[in-house]
Amino acid sequence: MRLLLYVLLNVLWVPIYLIGLICYMVPILLARGRVSGTAYEPFNGRLLYHLMGTRPDAAALQLAPGLPAANRGTLDLLVRPMAWTSKVTGHVPGAFRYPPPRPTSEGAMVGARCEFLDKALRDHVGTGDQVVILGAGWDTRAYGLLAGRGVSIFEVDAPATQAVKRAALAKTSLDASHVIFVTCDFNRQSWLDALEAHGFDPHRRTFVLWEGVTMYLEEQAIQSTLRAVATLPPGSRIAFDFFTREWIDGVAGRMGQWALVATYGESLAFGFSVLPDFEGRLGAYMAEHGLVLENCRPMGDEREGRVPYGGLAVGVTPEA
Ligand SMILES: C[S@@+](CC[C@H](N)C(=O)[O-])C[C@H]1O[C@@H](n2cnc3c(N)ncnc32)[C@H](O)[C@@H]1O
Repeated sequence: MRLLLYVLLNVLWVPIYLIGLICYMVPILLARGRVSGTAYEPFNGRLLYHLMGTRPDAAALQLAPGLPAANRGTLDLLVRPMAWTSKVTGHVPGAFRYPPPRPTSEGAMVGARCEFLDKALRDHVGTGDQVVILGAGWDTRAYGLLAGRGVSIFEVDAPATQAVKRAALAKTSLDASHVIFVTCDFNRQSWLDALEAHGFDPHRRTFVLWEGVTMYLEEQAIQSTLRAVATLPPGSRIAFDFFTREWIDGVAGRMGQWALVATYGESLAFGFSVLPDFEGRLGAYMAEHGLVLENCRPMGDEREGRVPYGGLAVGVTPEA
């Protein structure tokens, strides 16, 4: 009954949703190739969790009107009606449940990522640590989950994308005075060198958050990032997600690739090959780059011998 009502109301809202979609897509298309469009995908997910009451992220709601594609039209004609419909009907689709149901569908990927990475941050970030958010996009953890925890926070991103984030923070009066912003192109530069020029201390324990980024990078950038974390003090960590090579090369991955290029002008590059042994292969890859695999899980079909579409991992710098 709830599901039926949910579907009926959503069908009624289609004309409103279409106008909201235009408000969303126009700024993305205007900045295509310059500013990350894919950064909106996880942001929209986290915004909807907040509005649906499943994962609080007040900073995302505050930041939204400052971001070109999360403008008033998008919020009032797309995001809020979706959240309202879920609230009044009592039906929360799998993609917006937090934590999401298992096995993790492709639609629930953002929730699975958030659940795993939020937990890694909560478990391993302590007072005095440094936190580096690589490819920060519109991530708001620095202004929510990590705020007031006595840690030094660095957000690293491509220059044009970071400029849009900083303008949005200023417009929406979100306090970013505790965050150090550093620009870098991960495929061409060392983020560690860039950070060191901005007060990063390579002798302090550090947690590197790398959400939704590996798939857009060349493999040498993946390898140099893992090696860079391995030079940091013991107990430093990197937590990240990835797509599997098998999924990217398969039919679903090729369709996903097409949709990404068509919508955002961005394409998938790196995929981690996980067959025949997800954990074994991931552990060996981390070891090759100086890290110990501390925790991991596949996303997608988790049965033995099946190919998951992605995975989540935490690597730690070992004692010398
Ligand atoms: C899908 S978004 C994820 C944003 C954020 N981590 C999140 O989960 O909300 C990918 C981010 O990686 C950044 N990125 C992708 N390729 C990059 C590169 N070569 N150098 C620097 N940043 C890059 C984009 O600018 C964008 O902010």
